[in-house]
Amino acid sequence: MINERTCQCTTEPMQPMATGDRAILPKGAKTIPIYVMGKKYDVPETLTIMKAMEYAGFKFIRGAGCRGGICGACPTVYRKEGDYKLHFGLACQTVVEPNMYLAQIPFYPANRATYDIETIEPTAEAIYALYPELFRCVACNNCTKACPMGVQVLDYISALKQGDVAKAAQLSFDCIQCGLCASRCMGELPQYHIAQLARRLYGKYIQPRAEHLQKRVAEIEAGKYDKMLDDLTTMGKDQLEKLYKEREREPDMAPPGTWMPKDTQYL
Ligand code: FES
Repeated sequence: MINERTCQCTTEPMQPMATGDRAILPKGAKTIPIYVMGKKYDVPETLTIMKAMEYAGFKFIRGAGCRGGICGACPTVYRKEGDYKLHFGLACQTVVEPNMYLAQIPFYPANRATYDIETIEPTAEAIYALYPELFRCVACNNCTKACPMGVQVLDYISALKQGDVAKAAQLSFDCIQCGLCASRCMGELPQYHIAQLARRLYGKYIQPRAEHLQKRVAEIEAGKYDKMLDDLTTMGKDQLEKLYKEREREPDMAPPGTWMPKDTQYL
């Protein structure tokens, strides 16, 4: 999962240093104590858990991916000083707090069904057949409390119990498959895998087809953009930079449908 290299525990004022892609520490940045898997480290208070662990000498082999809150590789559980509650977060998004006591859970074993999406029926019954443990849910809501993305996990499980695949797909849209819901489930459900199947069925069979997308794919296949791509791939760096800087940009917060570029040749 992760290797510990060297601990840099210190309370001395720090020099500016880079600890990764975005963490440039100001001179004299304040350090705070945190506990990683029971061991104390002093880390700059401005860092995320992931950066703080790297600062402390950990090297991520597993448990880190996108570093942007999308891939679900860095689920972390922690307790705060004087607080009995268990807290959940993504290491790449959650900023350290003094005396937080944390552990990473980069993988949590959960039953995952095997199916052929080309032949499966887009019904709740098909989901029940693959995941009969769905009905072991006791509606305790621990899953929702554990979700670092604020997904209403119990609500989508309840929607599925009521046979509503579309609602389950929509409610689970922000799931990043970190597995923290399953780690807390009294009924031992693999909620995130169940929801993924609901979304796959919804996307393939239930959601209306996007006609404009089909039209654009047909245009690409017919070669409408070939010349533009050829031109771009043969341009020099300066030309590309100029093109990029002078590109037409949609104004921020423009209401939908109110803006069109002047150059419409590729629309
Ligand atoms: S590293 Fe991808 S969500 Fe944190």
